[in-house]
Amino acid sequence: MRLPRRQPPASLLACLTLHAWTLCTAASPPQSSPSSSSSSSSSSSSPPCPSACSCSGQLGKVVCTRRGLSRAPSGVPPNTRYLNLMENNIGLVQADTFRHLHRLEVLQLGRNSIRQVEVGAFSGLANLNTLELFDNWLTVVPSGAFEYLSKLRELWLRNNPIESIPSYAFNRVPSLLRLDLGELKKLEYISDGAFEGLDNLKYLNLGMCNMREVPNLSPLGGLEELELSGNHFPRLRPAAFRGLRSLRKLWIMSSQISLIERNAFDELTALVELNLAHNNLSALPHDLFAPLRFLVEPHLHHNPWACGCEALWLAAWLRESLPSNSSCCGRCHAPPAMRGRFLLDVERAALRCSAPFLSDAPADLNISEGRGAALRCRTAAMAAVRWLLPDGAVLSHASASRPRLAVLHDGTLNFSHVLAADTGLYTCMAANAAGSANASAYLNVTAAELDASAYSFFTTVTVETAAPPRKPPPPTAPAAYRPAYTATATVLVRGTRRGPSAPTATPDASTPPPSPHTSLDEVMRTTKIIIGCFVAVTLLAAAMLIAFYKLRKRHQRRATVTAARTVEIIQVDDGGGGGGG
Ligand SMILES: *[C@@H]1O[C@H](CO)[C@@H](O)[C@H](O)[C@H]1NC(C)=O
Ligand SMILES: *[C@@H]1O[C@H](CO)[C@@H](O)[C@H](O)[C@H]1NC(C)=O
Ligand SMILES: *[C@@H]1O[C@H](CO)[C@@H](O)[C@H](O)[C@H]1NC(C)=O
Ligand SMILES: *[C@@H]1O[C@H](CO)[C@@H](O)[C@H](O)[C@H]1NC(C)=O
Ligand SMILES: *[C@@H]1O[C@H](CO)[C@@H](O)[C@H](O)[C@H]1NC(C)=O
Ligand SMILES: *[C@@H]1O[C@H](CO)[C@@H](O)[C@H](O)[C@H]1NC(C)=O
Repeated sequence: MRLPRRQPPASLLACLTLHAWTLCTAASPPQSSPSSSSSSSSSSSSPPCPSACSCSGQLGKVVCTRRGLSRAPSGVPPNTRYLNLMENNIGLVQADTFRHLHRLEVLQLGRNSIRQVEVGAFSGLANLNTLELFDNWLTVVPSGAFEYLSKLRELWLRNNPIESIPSYAFNRVPSLLRLDLGELKKLEYISDGAFEGLDNLKYLNLGMCNMREVPNLSPLGGLEELELSGNHFPRLRPAAFRGLRSLRKLWIMSSQISLIERNAFDELTALVELNLAHNNLSALPHDLFAPLRFLVEPHLHHNPWACGCEALWLAAWLRESLPSNSSCCGRCHAPPAMRGRFLLDVERAALRCSAPFLSDAPADLNISEGRGAALRCRTAAMAAVRWLLPDGAVLSHASASRPRLAVLHDGTLNFSHVLAADTGLYTCMAANAAGSANASAYLNVTAAELDASAYSFFTTVTVETAAPPRKPPPPTAPAAYRPAYTATATVLVRGTRRGPSAPTATPDASTPPPSPHTSLDEVMRTTKIIIGCFVAVTLLAAAMLIAFYKLRKRHQRRATVTAARTVEIIQVDDGGGGGGG
C-alpha cells in the first residue's frame, strides 16, 4: 500500500486523547517478573556505579538520564535490571554494548538521537522485557538487532522517521505483547507480511502514521486492542480487519472516514468497543454491526449523520443494544428537521421508507467453461447485499471461502472463471430496514467439448505461422454462433492460404466466411493436409539427415584408413631405413 508523505490534519481532540494515553501508559511502571533471587547476593558487595549514573543496587536500577551521553556508559553493574538512558545524545547503539547485562529487564533508550542500531546491539539481553526506542531518528525497523530478545514483551518505536515496515520486521520477537508504532510520520509503505510472526501480540498502535489503507493485520490473531486513529482512511473496505478474531477494542477516530463498505467489520466477532468518532460518516451499511455480537461501546459522535431511512437500522440497533438513557452516539446533521437530535431518536413512524430497488438485476447467462462471468445486482449503497448460491451457501462482500467468486463493491457476483459445476440458480438478496428484494438468474455453463479443445490446440499451432487476419469476419448466424470454432476456422483458412500446399477449396478473401458447419469440414481437411505435410517434411528431413550422417561417417572412415596407411608407410620406410643403416 502507498502512503502519502503529507500528514493529515488530525483533530485536536484525537491528538490530546492519544497523547494522554501515551503519558498514562508511559507513566505506569513496567511489569517486573518476580525474580528477586539476585538482590540478596548483590547487596553484600555493591558493585561500582558509572560516574554519569545513579544506582540503587538493592533494586538493580541504574539511571543515567540527561547527562549528554553520546554512548552507553561502561561499567554498568551486571546485576542491573532497569537501565534508563533516556534524554541523552546517543546516536549509535553498537553491537555487544549490553552483553554482560543478563538480568536486564527494562532498557530505556527513548529521546536520544539514535539513527542506527547494529546487529547484535542487544545480544546477551536474554531477560529483556521492555525495550524503549521512541523519539529517536531511526529510519528503518532495526529487525536484525532483535535476534536475541527471546523474552521481549514490549517494544516502543513511536515517533521515529521510519519509512517502511518490510515483511517479517518483527518475526524475531514472537514473544511481543505490545508494539507501539504510533506517529511514524514518514511511513510510506507497510508490507503485507509486516506483522508476520506476531502470534502473541495483544496491543498494536498504528495511530498517526499517515496511512491511507488499513494494512494486512491478518497474522495478528491474538490482537485485543488496535489503535488506528489519526490516519487518513477515506473508505474502509469489506473485511478490512480480516483475521482479528480476538480484537476487543478498535479505535479509528479522526481518520476522515467517509465510507464504510458492506461487511467491513465481519470477523471482528469479539469486538466490545468501536470508536468511529470525529470522522465524516453520514450512514452505515444496513446491519453492519450484525456480526459484532459483543459490541456494547460504539462511539459515533462528531459525524454528520443523515437521519433518514438509512439510519433506521442503526437507531434500532442502538436502542436495543445500549442502556435506555444512553446519549453516547452521535447526532443528526441532516435532514434539517432532525438536525441536532440523537441518532437514537430516529423513528420509523416519522419516515416513509421502501424496500431496496434493484436497478441492475442479474440476467440468465449461457457460457462456456473457463470464461469469466458477472451476475449484476446493483442497489442502494447502504442496502445489504448477499448472494445465495446453487449449493445453498450465502456469499457476502467479505467472503473469501470461494477463491473464484467475489462480490464486488457494486453488488456484482464476479467469477474469475466458470466451471461446469457452477451451473445453477443464483439469487441476489438485497435488504434494508424497510424490506428486501430478491432477483435470480440461471447460469448455464457448457463444458468444453473434447474436439473443441483439440481445435484450440491446432489454433495455437497455426497462429504462430499465420499472419493476423486483417479484419475479423462478422458472425453470420448469431443463434448458432460459436466463437471458439469460428475463430479457429478463420485463422486456419488464412494460415493455409499462405502455405505452399493450399487446397483449392480455400475461399477467397473477399467472400464472406462460410457458416460454422461447412467451415468445420474444411478445418478438418486443411488440418489433415497440414499434418500430412508436416509429417512428410519431417520424415524427409530425418531420412536426409541419416543419409548424410552415413555418408560422412564412411568418408571419415576412409580418410582415417588412408591416414593410417600413410603413417604405416612412413613408419615402414623409416624402419626399413633404420634397419638398413
Ligand atoms: C465527507 O463525505 C461527503 C460524502 O458523504 C463528501 O462529499 C465529502 O467530500 C467528505 N468530506 C471530506 C473532508 O472527506
Ligand atoms: C443511565 O442509567 C444507568 C442505569 O441503567 C444509571 O446508572 C446512569 O446514571 C444513567 N445515566 C444517566 C445520564 O441518566
Ligand atoms: C441459453 O440456451 C438455451 C438453449 O440453447 C436458450 O433457450 C436460452 O435462450 C439461452 N439463454 C440465453 C440467455 O442466451
Ligand atoms: C472479475 O472477473 C474478471 C474475469 O471475468 C477478472 O478479470 C477480474 O479481475 C475480476 N474482478 C475482481 C475484482 O475480482
Ligand atoms: C428474499 O429471500 C430471502 C431469503 O430466502 C427471504 O427471506 C425473503 O423473504 C425474500 N424476499 C423477497 C421479497 O422475496
Ligand atoms: C445450456 O446451454 C447449452 C448450450 O448452449 C444448451 O444446449 C442447453 O439447452 C442450455 N440449458 C439450459 C437449461 O438453458
